[in-house]
Amino acid sequence: MYHHDISRVMTQAAGENGVLNRVLATAAEAIHSLQAQHLPVIERCLKQGDLGDIETIAADIVNRFSTVVVCGMGGSSLSGKMLTALALNPLTQNSGKVRLAFLDNIDPASMDMLLASIDFAATLFIVISKSGGTVETLTHMSMLWSAAENKLGRDIASTHFLVITEPHDNPLRRFAAPRNIRALDHDPDIGGRYAALTVVGLLPACIAGLNIRAIRKGAADVIGNTFRDGATSAVAQGAALSHMLAEQGKNICVLLPFCDRLLPFAMWHRQIWAESLGKQSKGITPAPALGSVDQHSQLQLYLDGPRDKFFSLILLDQHGKGALIPSTGDAALSYLERHTIGDLMEAHQHAMLATLTNQHCPVRVVSLATLNEEALGALTMHFMLETIITARLMGVDPFDQPAVEAGKKLAIQHLITHP
Ligand code: PA5
Repeated sequence: MYHHDISRVMTQAAGENGVLNRVLATAAEAIHSLQAQHLPVIERCLKQGDLGDIETIAADIVNRFSTVVVCGMGGSSLSGKMLTALALNPLTQNSGKVRLAFLDNIDPASMDMLLASIDFAATLFIVISKSGGTVETLTHMSMLWSAAENKLGRDIASTHFLVITEPHDNPLRRFAAPRNIRALDHDPDIGGRYAALTVVGLLPACIAGLNIRAIRKGAADVIGNTFRDGATSAVAQGAALSHMLAEQGKNICVLLPFCDRLLPFAMWHRQIWAESLGKQSKGITPAPALGSVDQHSQLQLYLDGPRDKFFSLILLDQHGKGALIPSTGDAALSYLERHTIGDLMEAHQHAMLATLTNQHCPVRVVSLATLNEEALGALTMHFMLETIITARLMGVDPFDQPAVEAGKKLAIQHLITHP
């Protein structure tokens, strides 16, 4: 599903193979103990039993609504955004049957525009919060409900909302229950940013028309390969290099896909990487990027700025893809003739990789022959596992976020003290 190539970093770090081999051995031990732990986030992806319900609910939604707005913060929003990008038209956010929009920030201007333009009769709102207590999400819920109730009346409005939250008492459930709003369970044992391959990410994905069984299959295959291959697995290699290079001062991790459909993936990775590793004064700063756009934006910094980055390029076979570039009639541009837009992208992928390598920047390559559901599921699980194993190498807990919790409490305190 993807090819993981660390040969360029290995060549550059030839003198440090002893160090890398020791880190790889520790990564293999961490993988071994992870296998013994049977973590819910991993066990869930090895099964498909919950997918039938998700498919039934999604089919019903697609039949009844032409717009779906997903509200949530952090993992509750980025998961769906990242998966659905595979299916949605980048201009219209439409899958052909349904338009999907994600609402996370609480910018009053955006909310005003949304409320003024939305067709409530044709829209379903999916409100996702694991804790059920995130103030931004509850604010969206309350404002959207109030507007929908005004337009549609209480009984009909309740059929235009669906919440996903933990199966115990919390503010979101307390809001939904008396209004007859359907509630689906968020697995209490799977943290927000690790929930992409549960109902949290898979329901929006299925609504967008994606094959969620193939997504899970891709993820399950990566789990199997990682547990089987240990120190030689792509996950161990990625985690060991990330840790080793960070210890050597390269503590900025640039994840650089080239295709637009993977930009939300890079943003999803930014959250899981930052929130899982950034603690106890440790951390590796994620810097998501996009080729070829960043060739005209960040490449100068990459090549001529501080040598503090580890590059992960995600390359897709683009040769011959897309339409032929029409002749402009300008002899100076004749090199474009008989090439497709995909050929140009392929050339840029090649040029970025060659430039970084020639300038002795540490770069690994994740290459995909095809970007489909299976490949996206595989990439998602790869980077989840790589995050967990890197955390183990750094000696931090990948599953908590103590500093974020403090910030959430301070925002609420501010509202209380500023009536
Ligand atoms: O990964 C996490 O735990 C966080 O980023 C959460 O996803 C985010 O804070 C939203 O939390 P909740 O889903 O409880 O509303």
